[in-house]
Amino acid sequence: PAERGAMKDRIRHLLKEKQAVLVAHYYVDADLQDLAEETGGCVSDSLEMARFGRDHPAKTLVVAGVRFMGETAKILSPEKRILMPDLDATCSLDLGCPADEFNAFCDAHPDRTVVVYANTSAAVKARADWMVTSSIGLEIVQHLHAQGKKILWAPDKHLGSYIQKKTGADMLLWQGSCLVHDEFKGVELELLKREHPKAKILVHPESPEAVVAQADVVGSTSQLIAAAQNLDAKEFIVATDNGILHKMRMAAPGKIFIDAPTAGNSATCKSCAHCPWMAMNGLQNLIDVLETGRNEIHVDPAVGRQAKVCIDRMLDFAA
Ligand code: 13P
Ligand code: SF4
Repeated sequence: PAERGAMKDRIRHLLKEKQAVLVAHYYVDADLQDLAEETGGCVSDSLEMARFGRDHPAKTLVVAGVRFMGETAKILSPEKRILMPDLDATCSLDLGCPADEFNAFCDAHPDRTVVVYANTSAAVKARADWMVTSSIGLEIVQHLHAQGKKILWAPDKHLGSYIQKKTGADMLLWQGSCLVHDEFKGVELELLKREHPKAKILVHPESPEAVVAQADVVGSTSQLIAAAQNLDAKEFIVATDNGILHKMRMAAPGKIFIDAPTAGNSATCKSCAHCPWMAMNGLQNLIDVLETGRNEIHVDPAVGRQAKVCIDRMLDFAA
C-alpha cells in the first residue's frame, strides 16, 4: 500500500506536469478510477467517456480502458494526443467482428441501416450508419424502428436481442459476445436470489437472456450505479464486471453488493467476472506512458473521418 501511495503521487504529479487528463472506465483498477476523479478527469461509462474526451480542452488524454475507447477519443479529437497504459487491451466483441467479414455482411444486406456497438474497431465504425453504447442503444433503435428502418446490428448478440425484444424492431444480429458477461448463468442466479429474496438484481445488457430476464434494472455501467444509489433496497446482486463494485460501494455506502454467479452448479459459486483487458491498466504502466509518451493511439485519418459520422450521430441524438 505504501508503494501504491507513492505511485499515485507520481501520477498526480505527472498528469499536472504533462497537462494531461485521465479518463477511466468503471472496470479498471480502483486506484485508477479514484485518480481520474480526483484530478479533474472522469470515470464513467463509454458514452460519457467519449463526450468528456471530446469536450475537455487538454491536449493529452490518457484513456484507462480498452482500445476502442482510446480509438473513439482519437476519432472525435484527431488533434489530441491519446495515450493508453496498454495498447493490447482489446475486447472480445471487437476481436469477434473483423472489418472484412463485417463489410461482407453489410454488402449482403444493403437494405438495412447499420447500427454498431461502441465496442468495435474504427474500421467497423467507418461502415456504420449509427454507433450506440449500452446506455442509449435502446432509444436509438426505437427511433429508427419508428421510421420504419430495418436494422443490421453488430456485434453483441445479447444486447442486440434484448433491444430487439424491447422495441420489436426488425434486427439482423451479428453473433458476437462479451467473454465476461457471457459467463453469467440464469439458473445459478435464481438460486442466489432465493438466498437473498429482498435483493434487487442489476444487469448489464451484454449478459445472456436468462440473466437479463431476472433483472430489476438493465443498463449501462453508469445507469447501474445510479440504480444502486437510487433504488430503495439494501441488497443488490450485480451482473457485470466486478470492477464496478468499487464505485457502487462509494456511491451507496451501507448497501450490500453481491457478485452474480458466473459458473458452477451451486448458488455459492464465486464470480470471476473481471475483464482481462481492463485489468491490463495499472499504476506502473500509467506512469510509464506519462513519462515516455509512448503507447499513443493512431487511427488512419480517412477511416477516422468516416467513423466519426456514426459517433457524432449518437452524440447529437444524446444531446
Ligand atoms: P458501458 O458503456 O456500459 O460502460 O459498457 C462498456 C463495456 O465494455 C461493458 O462491457
Ligand atoms: Fe469487452 Fe466484455 Fe471487456 Fe467490456 S467487459 S471490454 S465488452 S470483453
